[in-house]
Amino acid sequence: MEKRIISTDLIDEDLKNETNLRPKHLSEYIGQEKAKDNLKVFIEASKQRNEQLDHVLLYGPPGLGKTTLAGIIANEMDVNLKITAGPAIEKPGDIAAILNGLQPGDLLFIDEIHRLNRQVEEVLYSAMEDYVIDIIIGKGPAARSIRLDLPKFTLIGATTRISLLTAPLRDRFGVVHRLEYYTPNELKQIVMRSSNVLGVKIDEQGAVEIARRSRGTPRVANRILKRVRDYAQVRYDGHITEEIANISLDLLEIDKLGLDKIDRRLLQTMIEKFDGGPVGLDTIAAAIGEESSTIEEVYEPYLIQLGLIARTPRGRVVTPSAYKHFNVDK
Ligand code: ADE
Repeated sequence: MEKRIISTDLIDEDLKNETNLRPKHLSEYIGQEKAKDNLKVFIEASKQRNEQLDHVLLYGPPGLGKTTLAGIIANEMDVNLKITAGPAIEKPGDIAAILNGLQPGDLLFIDEIHRLNRQVEEVLYSAMEDYVIDIIIGKGPAARSIRLDLPKFTLIGATTRISLLTAPLRDRFGVVHRLEYYTPNELKQIVMRSSNVLGVKIDEQGAVEIARRSRGTPRVANRILKRVRDYAQVRYDGHITEEIANISLDLLEIDKLGLDKIDRRLLQTMIEKFDGGPVGLDTIAAAIGEESSTIEEVYEPYLIQLGLIARTPRGRVVTPSAYKHFNVDK
């Protein structure tokens, strides 16, 4: 039987846009060597035993390949992949229906798993551990609970915020992997591979330039590649060179460190309005008109990784490197 990817509407658009650039097999997947090596062994072992894979938790900043890895695991195991996300599962009945609809061995991918509510999470405990769920039928004194057996499935949870996961949920995952930012060299290879898939000609130096400014993130690299391709096609002959990559990245307002307008606004606001900090996350968020959670999950991890800001008990501070990046004296 043909194996399928089934997804909820919530992330369908995102999937459709990216699907063609996502590698389908571990052998095509560039980077995350540790996670890849381990997964290869666990997949092979469970296939040999003819058993479902243990539950897997993937965490780390957005865009590093959590959904892609789930798709690859499904392909390698030759099972269906059902994709959903924490906020889309509102009631225990929703998760019960999803679990009950799985085939033996299927993968259930729950993105943003830290956003599951408590009641839904509790249904998952017995489902993950014993492959059963208890459903309450009726209300008041007449209510009774019946136990439903589930097919043996594998849960793949993904989160950008592992610290928000409760201990009982975290402990039920047999395999836990942190995805790391990609090196410039890995990103260069991804850009070359994606160019090949898209049928775009690109010089190695063009790929290096895109890789350097992609904040360690394949999703960003692929997005930039598509924009640079547009530019190369309309203004030139379609072939991406280092020079064309540079000109289009400047037009996209992505600087040499890969910082975009919002990163720069964040840092400059901290420098100009708060004298470099310490300043609280909520204050920064209000000052630049972004959500605190977006800053914490999307922008800040890369800025911390670059050593441009630091977290202290009294709030965020910008480092001397940030002053240097903007040519400002402290
Ligand atoms: N496209 C997006 N992420 C990728 C990866 N890790 N390897 C290859 N191609 C990719």
